[in-house]
Amino acid sequence: MTFANTRATTYNDTVVRQFAIMTVVWGVVGMLVGVIIAAQLAWPDLNLGIPWLSYGRLRPLHTNAVIFAFGCCGLMGTSLYVVQRTCQVRLFSDKLAAFVFWGWQVVIVAAAISLPLGYTQGKEYAELEWPIDILITLVWVAYAFVFFGTVGTRKVRHIYVANWFYGAFIIAIAMLHLVNNAAIPVGFMKSYSAYAGVQDAMVQWWYGHNAVGFLLTAGFLGMMYYFIPKQAERPVYSYRLSIVHFWALIFTYMWAGPHHLHYTALPDWTQSVGMVFSLILLAPSWGGMINGIMTLSGAWHKLRDDPILRFLIVSLSFYGMSTFEGPMMAIKTVNALSHYTDWTIGHVHSGALGWVGLITIGSMYYLIPRLFGQKQMYSMKAVEVHFWTATIGIVIYIAAMWIAGVMQGLMWRAVNTDGTLTYTFVESVKATFPFYVLRLLGGLLYLSGMVIMLWNTYKTATAGRSVTVTIPAAVAHA
Ligand code: HEM
Ligand code: HEM
Repeated sequence: MTFANTRATTYNDTVVRQFAIMTVVWGVVGMLVGVIIAAQLAWPDLNLGIPWLSYGRLRPLHTNAVIFAFGCCGLMGTSLYVVQRTCQVRLFSDKLAAFVFWGWQVVIVAAAISLPLGYTQGKEYAELEWPIDILITLVWVAYAFVFFGTVGTRKVRHIYVANWFYGAFIIAIAMLHLVNNAAIPVGFMKSYSAYAGVQDAMVQWWYGHNAVGFLLTAGFLGMMYYFIPKQAERPVYSYRLSIVHFWALIFTYMWAGPHHLHYTALPDWTQSVGMVFSLILLAPSWGGMINGIMTLSGAWHKLRDDPILRFLIVSLSFYGMSTFEGPMMAIKTVNALSHYTDWTIGHVHSGALGWVGLITIGSMYYLIPRLFGQKQMYSMKAVEVHFWTATIGIVIYIAAMWIAGVMQGLMWRAVNTDGTLTYTFVESVKATFPFYVLRLLGGLLYLSGMVIMLWNTYKTATAGRSVTVTIPAAVAHA
């Protein structure tokens, strides 16, 4: 009886702790694979002639590991922490929450085995074959039950804006996953898409772009709306703007997917719709960024000696940069230059390393000591070092890719007066080599920061102990 009462008045942080640790672990693994494929692009001999170590198999392993293992563990862990604090109740179901954690780890391990073995649906970011897709669906439904069940049993009337963003992420990813993975199995680990031709491409990029919009953006905006005000000890700059931000963002993202299919067989008007909505998307994106940064009003001085706040705020600068660059790249004439080049890779990683990476790392540095009953991370000096290695790593990575990308685009389109091409393709590959080496250096720096974080997390966890936090009494009995 006493036990039941204790549980009713405490938060379930076990699952949050598990997700937080695995975010750091999978971050190191995913980025290590990123570094390996970056090295393979510079020195193809590193494929070693072993099929399961080849670039074509390790690349999807990298993208799946960083997005679905590192990114999603961060999102699941923080969302389950935030929803309890802002609703002032324990998670809706402890058993389902445990299923979400363990189920998701099984999905990740299944991906880590099946991708190097060469099993793939051939759809970017949706490579996993149908049996794994079914498991993802089950885990996701359980996650939705835990999250919305908790919101449904909340003890405060208001639903804090971070939960709206997390909620949109959960619902949208469920819908995208189900529609894009509709397939006809023809054997264990082999299936064919239910769509054909250009419809297949359209569905795929409706999925792909909204995975960016709802997983890599909306989910992490949920993180931003909780952890920046907490770390800055300031309320959100404008709550009204956060609501406008939410509705404008989720409405606009859904229509922008065709910018991935410019100059293809997709009807031209569809491409133009994608371009126009991408341009509109700049407004809500920047509205959100400004709202996050301005939350620091009156607390700017904290940036001087708080490396965690620096992670969080610099992530927003990269968010601003990539959401300015994206709409520009969506303009058809600009895309004619950027598409197929490393400019796209530069854009991806300014969003991925700069925005997704830094906001997650900052939020984890806030969360981890609290989950283990510590005032702060074991070494704040190490957090400081991590901040600088990560930031310098990103700048080297994206600057190298931008220069390489524009150079490639210009070389490919250069023609002589007689109409023949000025450069062969191989010449552009040779010219890119130094930039691939630079990118590897940037990636190594970023990865070394993550390794420092893993060490710091281990030290913090072992110096402290798992704590149980009581729900504030006045509210718990309300
Ligand atoms: C140490 C850090 C990292 C390194 C060295 C790295 C390296 C790479 C490389 C070499 C590629 C293939 C590029 C190509 O095909 O030309 C790639 C692709 C990609 N990476 Fe990373 N990466 C890192 C971290 C991340 C993180 C943290 C994320 C996401 C949160 C991410 C998301 C992606 C995505 C989405 C692609 C596919 C891009 C596309 O198809 O256009 N990466 N990465
Ligand atoms: C207003 C917001 C944004 C717009 C309009 C936008 C637009 C674009 C465009 C036009 C491309 C190039 C498509 C191509 O030529 O193939 C692209 C690629 C990409 N963007 Fe963005 N972007 C935005 C924000 C972001 C953010 C914040 C991230 C990451 C966190 C991101 C991740 C990606 C990825 C992963 C790709 C590569 C997709 C692929 O080909 O595999 N984008 N984006």
